[in-house]
Amino acid sequence: MSEHAPKHDRINPVPLPTDQELVLKVIPMPGDCNANGDIFGGWVMAQVDLAGSVLPARHVRGRMATVAVNQFIFKQPVRVGDILSFFSCVERIGRTSITVKVEVFAERFRSQGEYFKVTEASLTYVAIDDKGKPTPIAVRD
Ligand SMILES: CC(C)(COP(=O)(O)OP(=O)(O)OC[C@H]1O[C@@H](n2cnc3c(N)ncnc32)[C@H](O)[C@@H]1OP(=O)(O)O)[C@@H](O)C(=O)NCCC(=O)NCCS
Repeated sequence: MSEHAPKHDRINPVPLPTDQELVLKVIPMPGDCNANGDIFGGWVMAQVDLAGSVLPARHVRGRMATVAVNQFIFKQPVRVGDILSFFSCVERIGRTSITVKVEVFAERFRSQGEYFKVTEASLTYVAIDDKGKPTPIAVRD
């Protein structure tokens, strides 16, 4: 990259996944920035936690808690006004827990159609009962 290139020039547009489900779309606003003017990583993590819960909720159909963030990679910065698309798939269903992969792709608001992978993560959710204790996930066809 040239010395004068904008620091956020995106690299490597990628195709969107065809083997995962679109579970959330959201556009970050100026109030979601960190001191550098990029989108705050904690904001991205909160959105990923929400997006990751969508497929487990389909199986659990009740209370759940996030028990673990197994992996979280910020591959490229997110800008104010980017359209973020969150794709997810189930990686493992255990007795009381479900592990999902979440991948986040950014698209510029004013030049849509090119996607850049900005984040990928793996999270585990646990089905819990009324007392907050792990409870078995019913297996459905
Ligand atoms: C989630 C919670 C109910 C689990 O209780 P626990 O007694 O630790 O659970 P267990 O040891 O019986 O494990 C339950 C399941 O979680 C899985 N699990 C537990 N710790 C894990 C970890 N660090 N990573 C991945 N999976 C984990 C277990 O493998 C098990 O899955 P399985 O039944 O499918 O095999 C409890 O830890 C809790 O309330 N945590 C706080 C949740 C919360 O507040 N989340 C929001 C944070 S901001």
